[in-house]
Amino acid sequence: MNAEDTLPRRRVTLNILRYNPQDASSAPRLQSYALEASDGMTLFIALNELREQQDPTLQFDFVCRAGICGSCAMMVNGRPRLACRTLIADLPDESTLTPLPFFELIGDLSVNTGKWMRGMSERLETWLHARDAQPDLRRIEERMAPDTAEAIYEMDRCIECGCCIAACGTAQMRPDFVGAVGLGKIARFRLDPRDTRMDDDYYELIGDDSGVFGCMSLLACHDVCPKSLPLKTQIAFLRRKMALVG
Ligand code: SF4
Ligand code: F3S
Ligand code: FES
Repeated sequence: MNAEDTLPRRRVTLNILRYNPQDASSAPRLQSYALEASDGMTLFIALNELREQQDPTLQFDFVCRAGICGSCAMMVNGRPRLACRTLIADLPDESTLTPLPFFELIGDLSVNTGKWMRGMSERLETWLHARDAQPDLRRIEERMAPDTAEAIYEMDRCIECGCCIAACGTAQMRPDFVGAVGLGKIARFRLDPRDTRMDDDYYELIGDDSGVFGCMSLLACHDVCPKSLPLKTQIAFLRRKMALVG
């Protein structure tokens, strides 16, 4: 008998949305799975156990298992969460899992957030715009004020999980909305003294309803972000700055 077998276990039911958009005969349906969950079991471990022991066809994504890669986000009882950071102990005896809305569905709980994130990143040019095509690397590594470095670090913790998009009412209505993740990235580069873009340049990128003026301050993004990014503060700050440019 191994140590796992001695842990107290609770019987839980997971109702999982099953659908394969590549298969014309597939129709979306909820499929129920029962399992015995131990105290420290995460939703990610539970899904793996289901796939190994009950249904090898179940699709879901994961890479890091540690809340770093952002690939295991899904709707858990209607709220976007990371499966690898969600304890079964914190869920009721019966839960419903569905894929993140808005993103292209690959199958079951697996969605293509990467495609959307890449499009957003290219559109907003979410990389450092240094003054020279061949910048002086000593200047790039220049020291910056600790408060600025800390604020940039905070925004750089985004793992592009898509939870903020899945929770946002505007994103559900406007496919071109860049969402809190996009606005957060602009806020990050605007903070960076090494980036030479000015507010006029940022206005070109986000100064309309697909950007900062489409945000209705619903703040679900702030509530669900698994990395607790200061989205509320940064979006409000960006909106004030962009309103001055407009
Ligand atoms: Fe995920 Fe937060 Fe980044 Fe949105 S801002 S993609 S919720 S980590
Ligand atoms: Fe959406 Fe967040 Fe704005 S939820 S509307 S991006 S404050
Ligand atoms: Fe990487 Fe969950 S598996 S964040």
